[in-house]
Amino acid sequence: MSVGKKFKIASIGAGNVGSSVAQYCAELDLGDVVITDILEGLPQGKALDLTEAGPIRGYSSQVTGSNDYADIAGADVIVISAGLARKPGMTRLDLLEKNGRIISGICENIVKYAPDSIVIVVSNPVDTMVYLAFKKLGFPAERVIGMAGCLDSARMRSFVAMELGVSLKSVNTMVLGSHGDDMVPLPHYTTVSGIPITKLMPQDRIDAIVDRTRKGGAEIVQLLKTGSAFYAPGASAVRMVQSILRDEKQLLPCCAHLTGQYGLEDIYMGVPCVIGKDGVESILELEISDADRESLHNSAKEVQSGINGLREAGIL
Ligand code: LAC
Repeated sequence: MSVGKKFKIASIGAGNVGSSVAQYCAELDLGDVVITDILEGLPQGKALDLTEAGPIRGYSSQVTGSNDYADIAGADVIVISAGLARKPGMTRLDLLEKNGRIISGICENIVKYAPDSIVIVVSNPVDTMVYLAFKKLGFPAERVIGMAGCLDSARMRSFVAMELGVSLKSVNTMVLGSHGDDMVPLPHYTTVSGIPITKLMPQDRIDAIVDRTRKGGAEIVQLLKTGSAFYAPGASAVRMVQSILRDEKQLLPCCAHLTGQYGLEDIYMGVPCVIGKDGVESILELEISDADRESLHNSAKEVQSGINGLREAGIL
């Protein structure tokens, strides 16, 4: 990735998440964006609409839409949000088989057209889908990353800010584990301008925030009734894109390939990562309590059962 060149971002899937990704990338002028989808007209329509917003919003990114994977050629970063989203009553695991087949097909095209890209997977169940992508792409693990922790920790930040009546900006959080009910929000690493929340609110309020964070995706699904969240998921993916393309080396919770960290081997799981121009540049091993470690390992079991499910379905 040479300095000074105009970057290219491919957003695969022109649904709500894919178009939010394109919008935030354009607003930040991160590079040119191509949105792809199998549905004819949808990516073209969204891209044209975003182009027409450009003169008002003041960005110069070119946004195009395509039904042809050949148009992702040369992409520096690819965000995959294609696949089905949850409807009320569905778990992320319910999406496993259908999305598994979709992701596999997309990976074949990425290998063909953008073999040097860094790939961010958003499609659910994300910890399993990103593992599948890693296996199908054959890229080094640092170039295949799942988006979940940024979203879960942004949700937790919001809930802490609401609870304390402080700015969203002064709250920092860390959420580990899988993007499911067993995710591991870490109150001890959650601070308001450096002050741990354990000093700012009683335990029952912290427990309520942890619980709401775990169910954050389902809360939106229930309110929307016809789909799942997209502004915060799109923004979270773009935070990762930005850290890669600008080589910011932000420490972000991301779903990364583990090779022994936290006692976990050959699995993708949400952990604190330094994200820069090479993708996952390092993984931080935090000191966590025995209870959190146990939750993390339970979380891993859930992901492993998804991986087993893909194997049984002949997808992996
Ligand atoms: C959510 C979906 C994107 O958490 O997993 O809203």
